[in-house]
Amino acid sequence: MNLEDLKREAAARALTLVKDGMRLGLGTGSTAKHFVDLLGERVAREGLRVICVPTSEATRKQAEGLGIPLTTLDETPELDITVDGTDEVDAKLRLIKGGGGAHLREKIVALASKRMIVIADETKDVETLGKFKLPIEVIPFGLEATKRAVEAAIAAAGCSGGLAIRMKDGAPVRTDSGNPILDADLGRIPDPEGLADRLDRVTGVVEHGLFIGICSAAILATKDGIKVVGSLD
Ligand code: A5P
Repeated sequence: MNLEDLKREAAARALTLVKDGMRLGLGTGSTAKHFVDLLGERVAREGLRVICVPTSEATRKQAEGLGIPLTTLDETPELDITVDGTDEVDAKLRLIKGGGGAHLREKIVALASKRMIVIADETKDVETLGKFKLPIEVIPFGLEATKRAVEAAIAAAGCSGGLAIRMKDGAPVRTDSGNPILDADLGRIPDPEGLADRLDRVTGVVEHGLFIGICSAAILATKDGIKVVGSLD
């Protein structure tokens, strides 16, 4: 099985949790894309009735194309389940997200949901968070000053490593909300709660990619089958 097969397998397991009439959050990224595809098939084939909030413009376009009914958090502020991918997940269901720059909307949608279910292939399952660069979305105004404040927060949380503005085609990447992203190359994060807390207090930081106490369960597809961390009930 290749990685795409594993991602699809995790997505298919998550789809079994979806019941008629549910309000869903739809994640972003290549794994969440499989879930949206499979959901679209059930909507078209079985007439499954769901109403969904996408976490990015990319997911919105995909879902629209599949005929999945969409809403917003303004119209539907409470959701049943959000299904999303991740860049890293540890045994305590702490996550690093935002490799695709969508972590701000992803966190808002996940927090509006009774349950957040993460789907991933086994490569995302880590002992210690931090090998994946931690995305930190910031306001464009005062970028250099905010970068220094973020560096100080990182050092105070016992981490070290470079901080770079995410670039694409020679220009800073902008998120769906129009903000740049700083990627923190930390190697390992010994105290994710402490780092999250310090980053939360930096003025100019819109949102970072540490998801702590948000994810209810992870469905991890391995070559030996599905591994579930947490409870799917
Ligand atoms: C989007 O910003 C991210 O949080 C994604 O959910 C995460 O990067 C996982 O993406 P993949 O499923 O493509 O690895």
